Amino acid sequence: MKLPNMLNAAQRKAKANYIYENRINQKIFSGKKYYIRTYGCQMNVHDTEEIKGLLESVGFTESKNINKNDLIILNTCAIRENAHNKVFGFLGHLKHLKKNNPSLIIGLCGCMAQEESIAKYIKEKHPYIDIVFGTHNISELPKMLEEYDGKQNINVDSKEGDVIEFDNLYKRDSNITAWVNIMYGCDKFCTYCIVPYTRGKQRSRKLKDILKEVTELKNAGYKEITLLGQNVNAYGKDLEEKLGFSNLLEEVSKTGMERIRFVTSHPWDFTDEMIEVISKYENIMPYIHLPVQSGSNRILKLMNRKYTNEEYFTLFNKIKTKIKNVSITTDIIVGFPGETEADFEKTLNLVKKCEFDGAFTFIFSARENTPASKMKDNLSLEEKNNRLQKLNKLINTYSKEYNLKILGTIQKVLVTSISEKDNNKVAGYTENMKLVNIDAPITTIGKIINVEINDAKSFSLDGVIKK
Ligand code: SAH
Ligand code: SF4
Ligand code: F3S
Repeated sequence: MKLPNMLNAAQRKAKANYIYENRINQKIFSGKKYYIRTYGCQMNVHDTEEIKGLLESVGFTESKNINKNDLIILNTCAIRENAHNKVFGFLGHLKHLKKNNPSLIIGLCGCMAQEESIAKYIKEKHPYIDIVFGTHNISELPKMLEEYDGKQNINVDSKEGDVIEFDNLYKRDSNITAWVNIMYGCDKFCTYCIVPYTRGKQRSRKLKDILKEVTELKNAGYKEITLLGQNVNAYGKDLEEKLGFSNLLEEVSKTGMERIRFVTSHPWDFTDEMIEVISKYENIMPYIHLPVQSGSNRILKLMNRKYTNEEYFTLFNKIKTKIKNVSITTDIIVGFPGETEADFEKTLNLVKKCEFDGAFTFIFSARENTPASKMKDNLSLEEKNNRLQKLNKLINTYSKEYNLKILGTIQKVLVTSISEKDNNKVAGYTENMKLVNIDAPITTIGKIINVEINDAKSFSLDGVIKK
């Protein structure tokens, strides 16, 4: 069955059906092996689970080894320039692999593939990349492979189309914790950010579809889910039904899933109802990632973040007082165009006031077509690096403080794997999302256990099971 390139809802549904028909009736790629490498955020990690599911639905099997494959896919990220550099570095290696194995198909997808100039660049400079598909074209991968005729095929829709429900098509990395998309895209257009361009406008999934997925995961024995969106608190704003993230959280909580998490929260849409729901239900974890980006109102305005330093701090305090044992982490960008020493000091001051339990920090990276990429940026890279180091030093004192604070306490930990640091131990996450290496039997994997924290280093925690 061949399908033409198409965009509307009914046709997209037909594409999904195409996958199901193949999945059930014909494993047309039986015996073929694929390898996939993923860059970027949780969205990409979860998209990879979808891509794996799609490929296996048509007969492919996964290989963990880069050599001897029929298909290699790079699921890429575009958030900062170094994300690009990593991909182009790896492509050089793939080009070499292809010389020894000419029938190898190389595929590139993800946010980078969705960038306009990249598709053109690949066409001109990287002819050995066989297929390119955008974030809106993932469902078309099996069809692209079936129709591949040896000529480079770039399939990147600029419009996002409707949300497709793939039910249980995902090949998930874990059978204990799972990602659940609640929305795609982002409408916030922070001036530095490429995501609204690579992921398209916000599209929320329907409540009933999310609840169905969560219930199925619970019945399959999953212990924890993370609701995923670039901006989860804007959930539902684009739906006809009148509901928001607090309603969704409450409904998800009522499914009885043992642990519920969510990322990422934007301070702009964080309502009192959300705080109330999070504090009311025990299975909603007291952990909030609340990116602030900067402590300077001037910079926040230039970033189009739509809140002030003071508003952020008020929200921060409200969350801290109303949600028991809550942990808050953040993201911060240094060296945004025009950031002065005084602006940077304001960021340091806000960090001192909030004492974040952890933070991801970045140097501003100009991204194609974003408003910030056109702003005047005359700060040297050296100075940006100095600021980053200064900020990291401050942040580390607070994350260490957090670790010391919980030294000697009993924490509820969901054990997810063997410890990477010590194969005789297991590892898992506290309710506050801190990783702990635990002296406990392997049979605890998949269970929530009480752990006494007996060692707190700067970046990790050790513990022992408590009966
Ligand atoms: N949707 C989330 C964040 C997605 S990107 C939110 O709004 O909070 C993750 C983080 O990458 C951002 O919070 C920001 O700190 C950082 N980031 C995004 N674009 C960037 C850029 N152009 N340069 C440097 N850091 C950036
Ligand atoms: Fe990017 Fe801002 Fe959207 Fe986050 S909220 S994805 S930083 S545009
Ligand atoms: Fe990167 Fe795209 Fe995520 S740009 S951070 S993979 S949404």
